Amino acid sequence: MGRPTTPRPPAVPDMKTGTDLAAVLPMTAEVKDGHLFVGGVDTVELARTQGTALYVMDEATIRHQLREYVRWTRYHWKDVDVVYAGKAFMSLAMCRIVAEEGCCLDVSSGGELAFALRAGFPMERIYVHGNNKTDQELAECLDAGVGRIVVDSFEEMERLSAMAEERGKRQRILIRVTPGIAADTHSYIQTGAEDSKFGFGMNEGLAMRAIKRALELPGLDLAGLHMHIGSQIFALHSFSKAIEVIVHFMDEVRTETGYVVRELDTGGGLGIAYGLPDEPSTVKDYGKVIVDGIKEHVEEHGLPVPRMAVEPGRSIVANAGVTLYTVGAIKEIPNIRTYVAVDGGMSDNIRTSLYDAHYEALIANKADQPREMVATVAGKHCESGDIIVNDAPLQCPEVGDILCVCATGAYCQSMSSNYNKQVRPAVVMVNDGEARVIVRRETYDDLMKCEVG
Ligand code: LLP
Repeated sequence: MGRPTTPRPPAVPDMKTGTDLAAVLPMTAEVKDGHLFVGGVDTVELARTQGTALYVMDEATIRHQLREYVRWTRYHWKDVDVVYAGKAFMSLAMCRIVAEEGCCLDVSSGGELAFALRAGFPMERIYVHGNNKTDQELAECLDAGVGRIVVDSFEEMERLSAMAEERGKRQRILIRVTPGIAADTHSYIQTGAEDSKFGFGMNEGLAMRAIKRALELPGLDLAGLHMHIGSQIFALHSFSKAIEVIVHFMDEVRTETGYVVRELDTGGGLGIAYGLPDEPSTVKDYGKVIVDGIKEHVEEHGLPVPRMAVEPGRSIVANAGVTLYTVGAIKEIPNIRTYVAVDGGMSDNIRTSLYDAHYEALIANKADQPREMVATVAGKHCESGDIIVNDAPLQCPEVGDILCVCATGAYCQSMSSNYNKQVRPAVVMVNDGEARVIVRRETYDDLMKCEVG
């Protein structure tokens, strides 16, 4: 990703082995007999038995990250919901892990809600997002009995209230406000700035009007406010600033309407290490900045401490995942670069083409060897922009090697496509030496299952 990932000097062979890549790999990663192991499972063997391309997710890392969030937010205040943002990676198995860890789940479409329902996820722990929820989606949410709907527009508010009334319900809602903060990240994933399709801006009085209207509508139970300033944020001061602004607004709301905000959801956005030079903030520091920041500002304004929620997505799953590919062709263009072509690409990882994202790569069956060359990992799709890793250090590749791209657990499988009628890879969850397929590889029949002609 462009900013705030540390600017990269031109890539040179860095002689690092798999062992040196711990910062971007799952916490259980180790190198044994020259092979990369994750969750106690040999990834080279896994590639042989399951085929490639293959997403591998490490259960221990996912659970550890969820627990870190619970620990370091509740350390500062008892009443904090950790709401996993399902858009980062969602499967039935993932929903069950989130439920087992006692966390909540953020869904942003009827489809994500359907996964939560099928997984038996407790509906009172669901937060629903979206800047244009359809009537059908709102009906599904009401009928399922979701805990909270985060309202994004006046139109939605009116429709939701009417639909709740029809069902004899009062739906608990949060109002999404945009605090006017341009978070220090790629502009495509900034969401808290004034010019955003999301939420009610504070400056022109929109957010205040939204609150007044929500308080009037009989089908709504206004619990509080939500904000989300962006994603892959390294610098915690963007969060601090946004909290200062929103708590100030809570005070204005009390003065103008008498309403006291009971709940405050500050969204997700904590960045992760994609590259070795990246130094994201820790969950521990993040928890302190968010929770202590809210406590400090509400105290200044003489407001009660609200129930809080944070919505991490990427920082729960990104480093838990790797993608395995088989090297199929190597093209050396003298004095220009070496392309290593693999059996996947922009259909399983669009992030490099879309955001100029950067990844670390290694050869899983040569994980004990130094990365003594620089190569560009290209996919198999019919366009030049189909690159997975641009100019990065790599062990010397040979056809048939298993190439591992690190930190692909977030926004890769969830943003995957069938471009060129490529079947989507399977997802394997590894834990304690066991591997289980949680999403099977698609087949050509799957590709045609919606065809009616
Ligand atoms: N809450 C809301 C309302 C969100 O919109 C998002 C992410 C999150 C929480 C989770 O944010 P995280 O902790 O994952 O940063 N496709 C892009 C990322 C888009 C993020 C969208 N919203 C990427 O691949 O970088």
